Amino acid sequence: MIDKNWSRKAVVYHIYPLSFNDSNNDGMGDLEGIIQKLDYLNDGSENSLGVNTVWLSPIYRSPMADFGYDISDYYDIDPIFGDLASFDKLVSEAHKRGIRMIMDFVPNHTSNQHPWFLESRASRTGSKRDWYIWRDPKPDGSPPNNWLSVFGGPAWTLDDKTGQYYHHSFLPEQPDLNWRNPEVKEEMQKVLHFWLHRKVDGFRTDAVYHLVKDGQFRDDPPNPDYDPGKMEPYSSVLHKYSQGRSETLDNLKSFCEVLGLHPDKFIISEAYIDLPELAKMYRACDNNLHAPINFNLMTIPLMAGEFRNFIDKFDSSLPPEKWPNYVLGNHDRPRVATRLGQDRARLAAMIMLTLRGMPFVYYGDELGMENVDIPEEKMLDPWGKRVPGFGLGRDGERTPMQWDGSKNAGFSRSKPWLPTASNYKVRNIETEMKDPRSMLNLFRRLIHYRKKSPALLEGSYHSIDVAGEVFAYVRQCPAEKLLVVANFSATEQNLSLRSETAQVICNTFMDAEYGKEVDTGKLVLRPYEGYVLSFA
Ligand code: NOJ
Repeated sequence: MIDKNWSRKAVVYHIYPLSFNDSNNDGMGDLEGIIQKLDYLNDGSENSLGVNTVWLSPIYRSPMADFGYDISDYYDIDPIFGDLASFDKLVSEAHKRGIRMIMDFVPNHTSNQHPWFLESRASRTGSKRDWYIWRDPKPDGSPPNNWLSVFGGPAWTLDDKTGQYYHHSFLPEQPDLNWRNPEVKEEMQKVLHFWLHRKVDGFRTDAVYHLVKDGQFRDDPPNPDYDPGKMEPYSSVLHKYSQGRSETLDNLKSFCEVLGLHPDKFIISEAYIDLPELAKMYRACDNNLHAPINFNLMTIPLMAGEFRNFIDKFDSSLPPEKWPNYVLGNHDRPRVATRLGQDRARLAAMIMLTLRGMPFVYYGDELGMENVDIPEEKMLDPWGKRVPGFGLGRDGERTPMQWDGSKNAGFSRSKPWLPTASNYKVRNIETEMKDPRSMLNLFRRLIHYRKKSPALLEGSYHSIDVAGEVFAYVRQCPAEKLLVVANFSATEQNLSLRSETAQVICNTFMDAEYGKEVDTGKLVLRPYEGYVLSFA
């Protein structure tokens, strides 16, 4: 069904496919496994989680050097996950349940096993040579400049056969495509067309900030604030020339052009950037088909004033036709419940699900899944292995989804590719569904409430002054007015609000009765407690 506004109503659920559900018991998740769990995500009733959009981390053919972010064929599914038929089935089953499907799209780099790269590296004069970024060594044989790879070491690898270095923002197994070559852009537009014809609803674009590099290949300047004891070597320079070039916006435009040929598609872009840069990226496309993903809630300190300041500025910086978005966790950063603890993770979730904008829920965060401690010698993630000692390994936030208390948390009957969390017998979907006070039931309540709440879907946002370490805001439209209050402190807070009667929609501990009347003048919040209240 065509709905041009679906992205404004979307609650995005981010699945890391290797870890969601394993249907063929090989220890790794797959598409059929996701299909089996679609009813958990949304079966049309309030028994399910209620999300209406799924974003899949990459499922394309890949040698898995970076677990799918190294693609060797953009037009096929990796056999670990299934095949094109299982993909089509997934899209159609998702659509039957009112779930839109967003594919990961990785345009910055391919696998070094991709036929394009094999052809590119074969000779200096081949037709695909210029599809990647090749440079001569310096006279002493060293790399062409000082650019660094996010995953450790120089961003250049010498290819003996042709005597030139190729560029890679990430692993040597992930050579960067040359986005200054129009053929690359055209080919990537074809990739988008291919998946749009297979009925996907949109894309999450990987690493857009890296797409275009300085045409003169100037050295990145040193970072004056670099502290080698505390910061990873990648931070020793400011990435002024190796990323974030203004031409990136033209490429985003080229993606939007393709999406614009279809009636109701949407694209979001991965970029860890601050407010001014976010505003620029929002302006990249004239239509409203594109938004940069806003990761700032993962990095700003969890303090009422900091949250208020950021959200006020972000919300007011966008013109009315652009839609904000908020992320608390993903497959690249430690889990929110580990970073903040369970109570504060609930508070952050309540805020995210009641703000004006698109919320992103990373699989398992709705349960309060925590990072699994994986020692460096057992680590699979290439980032953690190549840059040890800085806690960069990402295996801990990618462990199997905790479905129930059976072996391997119900994820697989075989040994999972990553260890299952030791707390899975208590923290799993089955137990949390039954516990009215669980984190899962907080998510369910808010997601379902949001669907029918005009104030949450379309209403204005404005923060209000309250006493103490409390962030408070009103969501309002002519039909409905809601108040959200969140105590960011470890002590009880008396809000000193004006006395008014309000109804409880929920509190973060899920022990306040739904619909109960309260006097806002007498409201006292427990440590890290939040409330959503409605004024009839
Ligand atoms: C960002 C992705 O989220 C991350 O998982 C991946 O390793 C890099 N981009 C490289 O593709």
